[in-house]
Amino acid sequence: MRCKLLTGFVFAVLASAGTAEHRKQSMDAAQEWKEELWEALSARDAKKSAKLAGKLAALGKAEEAEWKKAGQEDVRALAAQNSAAAREVLLSARAGRFEQALQAFGRLEATCRGCHDLHPEKRPPVR
Ligand code: HEC
Repeated sequence: MRCKLLTGFVFAVLASAGTAEHRKQSMDAAQEWKEELWEALSARDAKKSAKLAGKLAALGKAEEAEWKKAGQEDVRALAAQNSAAAREVLLSARAGRFEQALQAFGRLEATCRGCHDLHPEKRPPVR
């Protein structure tokens, strides 16, 4: 029994460490994409902007699923807003509406920051 519990504990720790490591990698990518997106928007490059915004929107969706699984509703909601803002950048840039795209970019950045301010990585797992 004790051994089973211990095994379960070790697996839980390993699994959460895996998620944390994976998150760090995807967040580093997000940072790069966001910087490149800013440059692409400034250069009014619709194609490049749309491509980068699409990657950020997908990452936001994946984050949303992760935090839903983790039972953290406020964090999930921020991930959803983050993804929606990226999607708006995509659609506006694709339509050549750069003013609108820049406004959505502002919301994208605000929701990146909003989530970090919650420090969800420090919360104990819900399950
Ligand atoms: C839904 C929550 C959430 C959203 C939205 C979010 N992040 Fe993060 N981010 C995190 C968490 C949690 C960490 C901490 C990871 C850790 O240290 O375990 C993090 C860490 C980071 C880091 C540090 C990574 C490292 O190597 O330690 C960067 C850079 C980053 N995020 C960039 C971004 C950018 C850019 C966006 C928006 C495009 C974004 N994040 C949106 C949750 C989020």
